Amino acid sequence: MSEKTMVPSRFIFCVMVISMFLLVVSSIFLLQFSNHSFIPRSVLELILVNNTSFYFKPNFKKEQSIPPSFPPEDLPIYAQRELICQVSNSSQNISFVGQQRQMACNPTQALLRVFMYDLPPEFHFGLLNWKGKVNQTWPDLDNPKQIPSYPGGLNLQHSVEYWLTLDLLSSNTAQVVRPCTAIRVHNSSLADVIFVPFFASVSYNRYSKLHENEKVSVNKVLQDRLVDFLMGQEEWKRSGGKDHLIIAHHPNSMLDARQKLGSAMFVLADFGRYRVELANIKKDIIAPYRHLLGTISRAESASYEQRPTLVYFQGAIYRKDGGAIRQELYYLLKDEKDVHFAFGSIKGNGINQASQGMASSKFCLNIAGDTPSSNRLFDAIVSHCVPVIISDEIELPFEDVLDYSEFCLFVRASDAVKKGYLLNLLLSIKQDKWTKMWEILKEIAHHFEYQYPSHPRDAVNLIWEEVAHKVSSMRFNLHRDHRYQLKL
Ligand SMILES: *[C@@H]1O[C@H](CO)[C@@H](O)[C@H](O)[C@H]1NC(C)=O
Ligand SMILES: *[C@@H]1O[C@H](CO)[C@@H](O)[C@H](O)[C@H]1NC(C)=O
Ligand SMILES: *[C@@H]1O[C@H](CO)[C@@H](O)[C@H](O)[C@H]1NC(C)=O
Ligand SMILES: *[C@@H]1O[C@H](CO)[C@@H](O)[C@H](O)[C@H]1NC(C)=O
Ligand SMILES: *[C@@H]1O[C@H](CO)[C@@H](O)[C@H](O)[C@H]1NC(C)=O
Ligand SMILES: *[C@@H]1O[C@H](CO)[C@@H](O)[C@H](O)[C@H]1NC(C)=O
Repeated sequence: MSEKTMVPSRFIFCVMVISMFLLVVSSIFLLQFSNHSFIPRSVLELILVNNTSFYFKPNFKKEQSIPPSFPPEDLPIYAQRELICQVSNSSQNISFVGQQRQMACNPTQALLRVFMYDLPPEFHFGLLNWKGKVNQTWPDLDNPKQIPSYPGGLNLQHSVEYWLTLDLLSSNTAQVVRPCTAIRVHNSSLADVIFVPFFASVSYNRYSKLHENEKVSVNKVLQDRLVDFLMGQEEWKRSGGKDHLIIAHHPNSMLDARQKLGSAMFVLADFGRYRVELANIKKDIIAPYRHLLGTISRAESASYEQRPTLVYFQGAIYRKDGGAIRQELYYLLKDEKDVHFAFGSIKGNGINQASQGMASSKFCLNIAGDTPSSNRLFDAIVSHCVPVIISDEIELPFEDVLDYSEFCLFVRASDAVKKGYLLNLLLSIKQDKWTKMWEILKEIAHHFEYQYPSHPRDAVNLIWEEVAHKVSSMRFNLHRDHRYQLKL
């Protein structure tokens, strides 16, 4: 090596030594003066060590010092997105009950982007006797008093149309605190699904009878107009309706239009009154009935010993179609000990009696009626009465999220009518096994609540999740259909 190169390297060495010395001295200097006003103490603590802070906390176990990944990686993507959505902005107050959130949901974070047609009010809130100002399509959500209520009584069972629509409307308002599972977008090209805000169940329940001077019922007129409207929309033509979401929870709703709109994704109570090409589990979504009985709080829920009735059933006993089994079970069970098996639907005071009955029974029967499903299952769940499902054709909501066998018993109809079979089965479930199911019922009951504003993982949000799951297979089919369609 030549002298020329030796000189700079010695120089660099000196510079390094000096700078290290300066660094050490300045650190000591800083620390020593930390109690004085030279540098604010709070700044120092933040820079050096904040022992209450998660990231700077000294931690001797290495594996623990790595901050856990957020959201947890073992969660499915949609669940991760939901979580990020809820906590991504820590400067906001993110609490879902009773507090105000600072901003509306962000479309890029939502699980599902939904375009909703601005159908005139007579298709939705107008059916609830809501009257807005001239040209006003939707009620003003900023004023909670302006939000029309859904008709009560048995109508409520099928109110999913109302809760989903309100949830979408509120997704653009900063005032309403809700999870951002679904968000309404105003450009249909950016949407995953197209929502059709027709309150088909209330239309069936209230407007299918002919009133004086009417030749055709309002329910039928609305369905015909809806079909005309949809067939004229670019969005419908684009996908042949496959990405449209139509709520038809009452088994008789949409009777006139369902044939023409069968390519859409339906939200239904069950498939009992649909031909399999029109509605099936591949394409459509099963939504829970809104329970008619009040939800029992965990604290008030009676335990095994506090429920004197072994098994409870209250309902219409003579039904057409699949309901013949109710009669057979009635004659098998009516005289047994600790069994309540009685006629009558739960209208009026029946609701109170049924509430008390279910809340003081260990098991509640759900027997196929004229349709495979009924609100009874959901009444049993919110009463924490272990459901016994005797309905071979039943489809259950959210079955990809919930394992019903953990909190329900399933009995084949052919077994249930064997003499002694059902009672022996129920008596063989001992207290500890029953209590396990009861504990799970208390855990999962909130998945069956419809409410506005919606809460994390309640019925409204789980329905959006189900829709999001269907979107990828729907796109798959859509894209296959495009194969031989020439785009010019
Ligand atoms: C850090 O912890 C020590 C001992 O636990 C405590 O005295 C000190 O106040 C803490 N400092 C901060 C900033 O929390
Ligand atoms: C330490 O961190 C906690 C939590 O991150 C924070 O609330 C606190 O204000 C910090 N302390 C100081 C002195 O900055
Ligand atoms: C968090 O929310 C506040 C208030 O809305 C906003 O100013 C800020 O930019 C947000 N931060 C992030 C990281 O999104
Ligand atoms: C969070 O909520 C509390 C109580 O509701 C309020 O005092 C506080 O100012 C809020 N913080 C922000 C950043 O909005
Ligand atoms: C209502 O809408 C019609 C048609 O778009 C328009 O001509 C009319 O001016 C609107 N009325 C009001 C009060 O905005
Ligand atoms: C809707 O989104 C598409 C795709 O991003 C865009 O091309 C179009 O201009 C948008 N339409 C409107 C009305 O903003």
